[in-house]
Amino acid sequence: MKKLLLLLVIAVAVFMQFCSSAKKAQSKAEPAKPAALTYEANIKPLIATKCSPCHIPPQGRKEPYDNYANVKKDIDDIVRRISLNPGERGFMPQKNAKLSDSAINVFKQWKADGLLEK
Ligand code: HEC
Repeated sequence: MKKLLLLLVIAVAVFMQFCSSAKKAQSKAEPAKPAALTYEANIKPLIATKCSPCHIPPQGRKEPYDNYANVKKDIDDIVRRISLNPGERGFMPQKNAKLSDSAINVFKQWKADGLLEK
């Protein structure tokens, strides 16, 4: 009886070993998650090219978007306006071509990632 119990314990131990290494192999195979977008790396350069000069002081006299706090505060209005089409009321960037879908998605993804600064 004791031998049988010992055998059972060994069998369970071997089984668990197999199980955990199988799990490890599985997690290794999962594709790496893309890094979260940040204001410094992804948003700031986009605004500097697409929203200047109007929103970049001192030349720009509209709401300044050269800083994290303002962009974060207005992100919903920004996404709403850049999603409009030229000619629609409130469209941004005013007097310019509509942003590409991928540029618009950068703003949306930044919000989804939690509006990180850096
Ligand atoms: C050619 C100048 C110009 C450019 C370029 C421009 N804007 Fe604007 N923006 C304006 C003007 C003028 C207003 C104020 C009129 C209005 O609210 O529609 C404004 C207002 C806004 C507002 C509302 C701000 C507030 O105080 O309520 C947002 C949000 C905005 N712009 C986002 C953007 C974004 C994002 C870009 C770049 C992708 C951009 N704009 C590019 C001229 C510009």
